[in-house]
Amino acid sequence: MRPDGGARSTSGPHALWTSMVPADATFTSDQVAVGAAGNRIEFADGSTRLCATSGLWNVPLGFGNPAVADAVSRATHDASYLSLFRTPHRHAEVAAEALIELANPRRYSRVIFSTSGGAANDSAMKLARQYWAQQGAGSRSLVVGLRGSYHGTMYGSHALSGDDLLQSVYAVDRRSVRHVSHTDDGEELETLLTREGPRVASVVVEPVLGSGAHALSDAFVARLLALREKYGFLIVADEVATGFGRTGSMFATDDWAAAPDVLILSKALTNGAMGAAVLLVGHRVASDFVRGGWTFVHGETQAGTPACTAAIVAVIDELQRIDVESTTQELAAALSRRARQWREEGLIAGVTGRGCFLGLSLRHDDGSLLSGAEVHRVVSAIAQNGVLVHPGPSAIELIPAYAFAPDELYELDSAVRTGLDQAAQVFA
Ligand SMILES: Cc1ncc(COP(=O)(O)O)c(C=O)c1O
Repeated sequence: MRPDGGARSTSGPHALWTSMVPADATFTSDQVAVGAAGNRIEFADGSTRLCATSGLWNVPLGFGNPAVADAVSRATHDASYLSLFRTPHRHAEVAAEALIELANPRRYSRVIFSTSGGAANDSAMKLARQYWAQQGAGSRSLVVGLRGSYHGTMYGSHALSGDDLLQSVYAVDRRSVRHVSHTDDGEELETLLTREGPRVASVVVEPVLGSGAHALSDAFVARLLALREKYGFLIVADEVATGFGRTGSMFATDDWAAAPDVLILSKALTNGAMGAAVLLVGHRVASDFVRGGWTFVHGETQAGTPACTAAIVAVIDELQRIDVESTTQELAAALSRRARQWREEGLIAGVTGRGCFLGLSLRHDDGSLLSGAEVHRVVSAIAQNGVLVHPGPSAIELIPAYAFAPDELYELDSAVRTGLDQAAQVFA
C-alpha cells in the first residue's frame, strides 16, 4: 500500500530529516514522492515526472522491475536473514560467483559485501592499508584520490572525497589522503609519486567523475597503469556510478588495458532494491591475503543478506536478458545526438561524460559559469516541465534508465529546452 500523500502536512519541518539540504527545508506536495513505476516517479499531489537520473544512478532497469521484486520476495520467505559474520551462506556464494563471472574471472577472484558506496570505499581503504601492513610495509598508508571526486560520507570515504564537504567541521582526518588533478593526464599524480611513491598504498579513481560527469582521459588511465608498474600501489576503481552498463561497457574499466586491483560497485547492483555494495578483489590482493592467512577485519551486519544477494543475481540476469551493452550503446548514441544539437543551438556550453551518463555544462550569455543556486533553479524549471535531471557543478547531468523509449527522449528534450529557456529569463 502506498503512503497517503495527503495525510500529513508538508508545509513545515516534520519527522523526516532529509539528507543534503538545510535542516529547515520544507517541501511542497509536488516534491514528495509517493511511488515509482517504469521510468516515472509519482508525487503526493498526484503529478508524475519522468526520471532522467535513474533514481540517482540506482535504477537503470526501471522502477518496480518485476524480476528483482520477485527475487527479493522469494529470498525474504526462504531465509529472511542470514549473516556473513564468520560463516557464509549459499545465497551470497551464488551472487559472488555470478559477479566474478560477469566481471571477468581473469580480473577478479573474491567478493566482499558491503551496504553502501561510502562504506565500500572505507572498506577498500582499509583493505589496501592492511595489504601493505601485513607485508611489513606499514608506512605505505597514503590513499590518493582525485580533486572533485565523490566517494561518500563515511569517515574514510568523506576524507577521500575530493570536494569540500565540510570535512573540517566533522574532524575528518585527511592526513593519510592526498588529492591530485584528473584533468592534467596524470602529471600531478606522477609528481606526487616521485615525492611520496613508497608511502602510497592505493590510488582511487572514478572512471567518470560523478560530479560533472568528467571522464578520465585515455592518457590519464595509461599513465595511472604505468605508474602502478613503477611504484606498486593498488588501483581501486570506484564504479559505484559507472558499473553495470552505464558507460556502454559492462564496467567502464573493462576498456582499460589492465584491471584495477579492486572494483567497487553499488548503484544499480540491486536496481535500488537494497542498500548494497561489493568490492571485487583482484588476484594480487586476494592471493596475498590467502597466502598470509590474514583476516580482514571489516564486517557489516546488513551486508550480503539473502534478499540483497538474490536481488543481485536477478539484476545480472536482467542485464544479460536485455543485452545491456548494445542497449546502452544505442541509447547513448541517441542521447549524444540530442546533446550535440543542444550544443549547436547554443542552449548548453558543452557536453561531458560517456555513454548514458552525460553532463551538460551551463554558462550565461557572457560566458560566466552558472552558480550552484542557478543550477538548482534550472533543475527545478526542468522538473516543473515534467522531467527530473541531476544537478552538477555548473552543469546538469542526464543518467536515464536503459529502457528509455524514443517518446521519453522527446519528453526529455522538450523539458530541457523549456526549462533552460525559463531559467534564462529569470537570470536575465
Ligand atoms: C562514485 C561514487 N562513489 C561512492 C558513492 C557513495 O555511495 P553511497 O551514497 O551509497 O554511500 C557515490 C554516490 O553517489 C558515488 O557516485
